[in-house]
Amino acid sequence: MSARVYDCLRLIAERIIQNKDFLTDLDREIGDADHGVNMARGFAAVIERVPQDEEDVGASLKRCGMTLVSTVGGASGPLYGTAYMEAAKVLAGRQTVSAKDFGAALAAAIAGIQRRGHAVRGEKTMLDALMPAYDAYTQRVEQGADLAEGLDAACDAATAGVEYTKAIAATKGRASYLGERSIGHQDPGATSSALTLEAIRDFVRGL
Ligand SMILES: Nc1ncnc2c1ncn2[C@@H]1O[C@H](COP(=O)(O)OP(=O)(O)O)[C@@H](O)[C@H]1O
Ligand SMILES: [Mg+2]
Repeated sequence: MSARVYDCLRLIAERIIQNKDFLTDLDREIGDADHGVNMARGFAAVIERVPQDEEDVGASLKRCGMTLVSTVGGASGPLYGTAYMEAAKVLAGRQTVSAKDFGAALAAAIAGIQRRGHAVRGEKTMLDALMPAYDAYTQRVEQGADLAEGLDAACDAATAGVEYTKAIAATKGRASYLGERSIGHQDPGATSSALTLEAIRDFVRGL
């Protein structure tokens, strides 16, 4: 990734906007039917507000995070906003992102989500996509994989993580009000996290 961070954010935005109804329908089953609407509104603002010619990856991610906090709303706005702002700190001043940098940024994003939302793995949230993705990513990169190969592993693990959210009950967020009745339903936030990682992977692969 170099000097094209806007294009990566635009691809994430496109995927989120394309999946707006799907994400909202998932949230209708175990929440309040707004996750896709919230995220699509936020990412429409992101592609308006992040300068297209910004070369500093950190500066663009910071603007993205601040925009998400102020436009997404719900639980996911502050959580995703924090994730991008924490990744921004790791990538401040960078014009390129190495495989190692991406791992560090993803770790910081996850830590930010946990600090803000006090959730752990297995509570049927976005962390159930992101944490296994991070583990798979770092494992593959430690074995010598490059950024794209690491992201392939991350996406596979995120997909499996989304699937796993169907098997467990929510204990955080609005879906936790349903308790055991949330079992059988896929978590919307885990789904948007997997879509995000897939967009980043496809951007890196030039798809
Ligand atoms: N404490 C938390 N930590 C991590 N993710 C969370 C937490 N609470 C909720 N989420 C995520 O937020 C998603 C719901 O987002 P959204 O519908 O936009 O917000 P709200 O629940 O306020 O309507 C959930 O599917 C879940 O993945
Ligand atoms: Mg909701």
